[in-house]
Amino acid sequence: MRNGISRVALIGTGFVGSSYAFALLNQGVAEELVLIDLNREKSEGDAMDLNHGIAFAPTPTKIWYGDYKDCQDADIVVICAGANQKPGETRLDLVEKNTKIFKSIVDEVMGNGFDGIFLVATNPVDILTYATWKFSGLPKERVIGSGTILDTARFRYVLGDYFQVDARNVHAYIIGEHGDTELPVWSKADIGGKPILELMAKQEKYREEDLNDLFVSVRDAAYQIIERKGATYYGIAMGLVRLTKAILQNENSILTVSAYLDGEYDSKDIYIGVPAIVNRNGIRDILELDLSEKETEQFQHSVKVLSEIKDKVF
Ligand code: LAC
Repeated sequence: MRNGISRVALIGTGFVGSSYAFALLNQGVAEELVLIDLNREKSEGDAMDLNHGIAFAPTPTKIWYGDYKDCQDADIVVICAGANQKPGETRLDLVEKNTKIFKSIVDEVMGNGFDGIFLVATNPVDILTYATWKFSGLPKERVIGSGTILDTARFRYVLGDYFQVDARNVHAYIIGEHGDTELPVWSKADIGGKPILELMAKQEKYREEDLNDLFVSVRDAAYQIIERKGATYYGIAMGLVRLTKAILQNENSILTVSAYLDGEYDSKDIYIGVPAIVNRNGIRDILELDLSEKETEQFQHSVKVLSEIKDKVF
């Protein structure tokens, strides 16, 4: 909180960014929100449009179209700018073009005296979070990627639907790359304290292949949505608001974000999706789950795929 007022600076007001701004206003999470985008017209229009909804919001958020100077007093800079996946493209296909865009963005933000927390959403989010950490020079705990926060929410949704239980009562994580090598931690998944694998086996309708079908529907959700509507934005925007709230309200919440590993999970010098405790200082701790042998193998494969890409770029 600079001078006691919580400020978020949003860079990139495309589908994801403007959905994030809309969700942030509707959930009354921040006192100030500044929109920064190359397309001044569109962002000014967004600011005007959002301000007209303030009378309906739970608390007022002061919203304006600004520039990088406004980052100096921001607690959080959220980066949603960059190219997004087209049908048939993987997230990793976007590395080259988005890394270049990020270099200029992070240089501008840091050049204006930013000293808060970066939240990165642009894909490939694990690589671009690493890039933001490298380019900014900020401590690793203050550079956070959305990671598998949305994948975990999708996983909880499909499991909630399968068991007809509120998704908020499903404890289950997706970890690893936010992408094709992510993995479900079945060994630690539970509903109301009952291991899901046990619950599954007791289900009349249960078939062995259900586990994989449910996971694949999560892993490939973005492709399915992009095929239908061209992009995804509501789910990721709400995940970013959840992360923003955990920071601004100093929650110490456990969220599967893209965090820097420095030995955890036997991995080093990589950003990847893991459960982490998030508060006003960024990432307080990384939770090292006792993964099964298979989960460890899958996680290490995910680390390898990301590391190979990262080592090519940096
Ligand atoms: C998705 C985008 C955010 O998974 O990568 O919908």
